[in-house]
Amino acid sequence: MLRKKLIAANWKMYKSPEQTREFFRAFLPMIAGHERSEIVICPPYIDLHAAVESAQGSAIALGAQNVYWKEEGAFTGEVSCHMLKSAGCTHVIIGHSERRQFFGETDETVNLKLKAALNCGLTPIVCVGEVLEEREAGLTEDVLRRQCLRAFDAISGERAHKLVVAYEPVWAIGTGKTATPAMAVEAHLTIRAEVSKSLGDDLARKLRILYGGSVKPENAKSLMSEEEIDGALVGGASLDARSFAAIVMY
Ligand code: PGA
Repeated sequence: MLRKKLIAANWKMYKSPEQTREFFRAFLPMIAGHERSEIVICPPYIDLHAAVESAQGSAIALGAQNVYWKEEGAFTGEVSCHMLKSAGCTHVIIGHSERRQFFGETDETVNLKLKAALNCGLTPIVCVGEVLEEREAGLTEDVLRRQCLRAFDAISGERAHKLVVAYEPVWAIGTGKTATPAMAVEAHLTIRAEVSKSLGDDLARKLRILYGGSVKPENAKSLMSEEEIDGALVGGASLDARSFAAIVMY
């Protein structure tokens, strides 16, 4: 297989350090010996230390849910790529729709964060996706093209080899509505074509594009069976060890 699947948990603003330890105590035995997919867990910053300790000796990687593009300075409340790396992160989610919707994230800030993450050697998971009105107006393809074009501006294919993209239709996030595998595949093909234009064919062929939006144990298999879907970014269903393990083991 050209592309190893990646199953990532986005815990959003849930769990304390103690609950993080509890999760790992339950989760690790459930996925013991699993090697088919890469597993990444992205807890809140405050839980990273507990997660790093708990994941020791396992193949689970850790990621953050956001990052700031500057290296250091007077930026109250922000965290840099170097800080994430030194805390044990290898991955970082960039441009999640909740950050776009509630915290002023734009395609331009996504681009700055992406450049910083790549420079620092983190694996960025860049989120793109349309809102319901855009889908209903037939604008999905335009929106995905625009988001990709701006996110990947002034980045070269060689520099971006670690890039991962997550297609997350906003109407499917936390709503229980899932894109059908066919809808996801169509969007992934649009994204791959746009990446091919911006970053080159070779990178586009190797690029992993995850699907996110109400991924559950019940629908994981049908989504993951698509060759074009290279993994999942899982919110709600990743908070429970049993349900996240069922998704990983689909
Ligand atoms: P959900 O969230 O699985 O709860 O829909 C996905 C995400 O926001 O990444």
